[in-house]
Amino acid sequence: MSEKEVFEALRGLPLAAVWFYPETGSTNQDALDWAAQGAPDLALIVADHQTAGRGRLGRQWFTPPGAALAFSLILHPPAPQPEILPLYSPLGALAVAFALEQGYGLQPQIKWPNDVLLNNRKVCGVLAEALWQGDGLQAVVLGIGINVAPSSVPPDDQILFPATCVEEVTGKSIHRWGLLAGVVKAIIDWRDQLGSEVFLQAWQKRLAFTGHMVRLENTGGEASEGLLLGIDAFGHLRLQMKDGSQQTFAIGDLKLRPIS
Ligand code: BTN
Repeated sequence: MSEKEVFEALRGLPLAAVWFYPETGSTNQDALDWAAQGAPDLALIVADHQTAGRGRLGRQWFTPPGAALAFSLILHPPAPQPEILPLYSPLGALAVAFALEQGYGLQPQIKWPNDVLLNNRKVCGVLAEALWQGDGLQAVVLGIGINVAPSSVPPDDQILFPATCVEEVTGKSIHRWGLLAGVVKAIIDWRDQLGSEVFLQAWQKRLAFTGHMVRLENTGGEASEGLLLGIDAFGHLRLQMKDGSQQTFAIGDLKLRPIS
């Protein structure tokens, strides 16, 4: 594995700058620091190994050396559009789903709002973080972690949802940097469609557990159960509750689980 291979795989993509680290704490933290110092739009940080990878809801993210993809792309949103800010993490999930479909013939699904599943097991997590300067949004850091080889799948006692990796599902060895290039390309292709009808439809089409009973839990442990109907025009989750009413839930600190 070398930096050269990473740059080679990314050649041809309109990236402004690329940093590769054999080891770092968190590529999201590196990207936020870089963005604060004026990193351009489409600047990318890739790491082979993260020692303090972070996940949603303050969790840790496991990235052992030589086995996973961990990267953060800096995006400068074109105009202040607060309503589409929560859609950056689903953009990451959709891009990963596209890359897995087009490059490897897989059928990924997206567990609302932004976990990518293969065979109902989590293969990828997305953490979008915004950098603000006063009231102004300076950049969005789109951080993506993908389990590629078996050693990237966290041990059972460290996971909250069943996990897998791309190689377990394909039964083949995967060129990590080829997958990286496919995902980055898909983000670039989809970013201008964020919040559009076509974006929402593409997300909806891949939504896991549609038509199934699910449980949504907030960080305070408060739970809602209902039949998963889909997403609405804002990307909010639509559930049919037991009393027949419909409720929507905005993207936020919520955990979704199927009820088996
Ligand atoms: C989740 O909890 O599912 C989100 C995980 C996001 C992990 C990625 S790995 C690259 C980037 N750097 C980080 O520290 N986190 C994100």
